[in-house]
Amino acid sequence: MSCFLSNSSLGKKLVMSVTGCFLVLFILFHMSMNVTAIISPEAYNTICEFLGANWYALAGTVVLAAGVLIHFLYAIILTLRNYKARGQRRYAVTVKEPGVAWASKNMLVLGFIVLAGLLLHLFNFWSKMQLVELMGQHTNSLGYSPADGAALIRYTFSQWYYVVIYLVWFAALWFHLTHGVWSMFQSVGWANDTWYPRLKCIANIIATIVFLGFAVVVLVYFFCPCLAGAC
Ligand code: HEM
Repeated sequence: MSCFLSNSSLGKKLVMSVTGCFLVLFILFHMSMNVTAIISPEAYNTICEFLGANWYALAGTVVLAAGVLIHFLYAIILTLRNYKARGQRRYAVTVKEPGVAWASKNMLVLGFIVLAGLLLHLFNFWSKMQLVELMGQHTNSLGYSPADGAALIRYTFSQWYYVVIYLVWFAALWFHLTHGVWSMFQSVGWANDTWYPRLKCIANIIATIVFLGFAVVVLVYFFCPCLAGAC
């Protein structure tokens, strides 16, 4: 079984598909949780406190980190294999729709942008929250409590360049998800002529919900901080 997952192309795609599905579920959960920060910053901070440096939150972080790492490593291995196998025809793709073809050809580049954004994001938030708690400190480098996620969101998105960087990051994630979610189903053999357009539509809807859910938090905190309880 482990040989199948690491040696065969289908096995690798299956690993990408399962880790991708897990990451999409996390992203949907994370996005829903963030929207709470607009409705009630207090409720958001209560959730942040619940997901602090407790054993279950730490276990979640470790599983999540493993998911990202495996997804990323297998993506590199698969892309290199495809690159070698296709030679001069490496830009040939089977899908015809222009938007899909663009995202499918650029999945690794989009993945790198998503990962770079994630590293910056972990520096902005995780290193000032869960890591601070793990180190046994009561305030982070900005002077906030490590459970005060709302204050950190307010601080981060009061700076216009973070608004721009995060929106670009979400756009890269949108493209990555439009192809990724569809491809996830295809790898488990679910895309035929009937289901192809339906799955494509489902992928677009999920990617758009994720984009809008994350973007609305950034924009509300930047343009109307009073709505988010800052006044
Ligand atoms: C408006 C956008 C976002 C906001 C306000 C936000 C907020 C946060 C906050 C407050 C934390 C720290 C949680 C803690 O340490 O207790 C966090 C962690 C994290 N975020 Fe985000 N996030 C956003 C977008 C994203 C996106 C788009 C992704 C993925 C593509 C993402 C992935 C993560 C990951 C992987 C962690 C670490 C989770 C853990 O420690 O288990 N975030 N985010």
